[in-house]
Amino acid sequence: MLNTMGFKNDILDSLISKEDIDRRVKEMGLALTEEYRGKNPIFICVLKGSIHFFSDLTRSFEDYCELDFLSISSYGNARKTSGIVRLNKDLDMSITGRHVIIVEDIIDSGLTMNHLTSLLRARNPESIKIVTLLDKPERRECAITPDYVGFVIPNEYVVGYGLDYAGVYRNMPYVGILKSEVYGDESTEV
Ligand code: PRP
Repeated sequence: MLNTMGFKNDILDSLISKEDIDRRVKEMGLALTEEYRGKNPIFICVLKGSIHFFSDLTRSFEDYCELDFLSISSYGNARKTSGIVRLNKDLDMSITGRHVIIVEDIIDSGLTMNHLTSLLRARNPESIKIVTLLDKPERRECAITPDYVGFVIPNEYVVGYGLDYAGVYRNMPYVGILKSEVYGDESTEV
């Protein structure tokens, strides 16, 4: 049910400000520039959650690169990431022999990323690295360790800067903690 007072009333607290996101994303972009200089990597945007992070991160990358997009959805128990990933939209480009940088908004259980890296490794890229804005290691269910992490966060239900609950809040410019009354008992959903 959408709050008639506006979506800001659904937010308990700001967790990561727009300023902190901007600063950290620029740092990550510059670190990636150093690591991938002259390698023309392919940045992969995992839709939809990583849209803003992907856009800001790639604009902080100061060398040649290419951009591609894929869309995935998990299915099974609808309230929790199942880890079984269906590819709704595949990459347009071949990644064989290329340096690949997967850009995610959040790694929670790690099941989505586990499946995605297996899928992409089968295409024989030169390398794959995982970049995530947010990492919730407390919730990890498999051995996925991102190579670059913007912020390690506690086990709170977060939205904004691409992250949604029930399809909304993605357009918030900061990451906030959702009030528990908004999601009720759906605390396992990401
Ligand atoms: C979110 C997020 C990751 C995944 C992380 O995607 O973008 O892909 O969940 O969860 P996990 O580590 O427990 O697997 P979601 O399925 O909500 O889709 P979205 O990006 O379109 O919001």
